[in-house]
Amino acid sequence: MELSVNIDHIATLREARKELFPDPVYAAVEAELGGADGITVHLRGDRRHIKERDLELLRQIIKTELNLEMAATQEMTEIALKIKPDRITLVPESPGEVTTQGGLDLLNIKENLKPYISKFQDNNIKIGIFLDPTPDQIKEAVRIGARYIEINTNEFSKNPKSKDELIRIARVAKAARREGLIVHAGHGIDYKNIKALLSLSEITSYSIGFAIIARAVFVGLRQAVREMVNIIKGGG
Ligand code: PXP
Repeated sequence: MELSVNIDHIATLREARKELFPDPVYAAVEAELGGADGITVHLRGDRRHIKERDLELLRQIIKTELNLEMAATQEMTEIALKIKPDRITLVPESPGEVTTQGGLDLLNIKENLKPYISKFQDNNIKIGIFLDPTPDQIKEAVRIGARYIEINTNEFSKNPKSKDELIRIARVAKAARREGLIVHAGHGIDYKNIKALLSLSEITSYSIGFAIIARAVFVGLRQAVREMVNIIKGGG
C-alpha cells in the first residue's frame, strides 16, 4: 500500500502572495522524509500553483516516484516528455475550477487520448486515468493503453458513512483488477475516511493532498505525512 503526497497546496500558498516560499520542492523532501512513496503535482494550464520550475527541480531532487497530473493537451504533453515523470495521471481540467471536478469520461471525451498515451509509453512513463467509480469506463481505459486507474473518491469523501459509494468504488476496483489494471484512489481523502477505503485490497496507492497539508500547518509536514503513512501501512 503506497501514499503519494500531493503538494499542489504548498504552491497555492506561495502563489497567494506571489512569493518564493513556501517552496513545494522543500515540501517534497519533507514528505519523503515522512515516508511518502511518491510525490504528486498537477501542472495546470493556468499555472495557478505548480510551475515548470517546480517540476524541473522535483525531477532532479526527489528520490521517490514523481506523478504528474495533467490534462491531455499538446502543451502538457511537450512538457511531460521533457520532464519525464515516472507516471502521468490524465485528468479533466476546466478553467476556473477550484479543484478537479470529476473523472475523465472516456466514453464521451472529444480528444483522442491514444496518440498521447503512445508517446508516453515510448518514454517508459506509466499512464493512469482519473475515473469516476463507474465500471463502463474500464474497458476503454484498457483499450487506450492505461496501466492504472485512479478512482475519484470525491463523492465518497463527502459522505463516508454511506455504504453505496464505497460499494461503487469496490465494484470498479474489482472490474479494473479483472482487466489487469492497477488501482489507485484519490480526492478528498483524510485521516478518518481512509479507514473504510483500506478494506478494499484492490487499491494499492492513495493520492492525498489537502488533508495532509492542512494538518501540516499544526504538526509539520513530516509528521503529518508520517501519521498518514502509519494509517495506510497499518501501524496506526
Ligand atoms: N487526485 C486527483 C486527480 C486530484 O485532482 C487531486 C486534487 O488535486 C487529488 C487526487 C488529491 O485530492 P486532495 O487534495 O483532496 O487530497
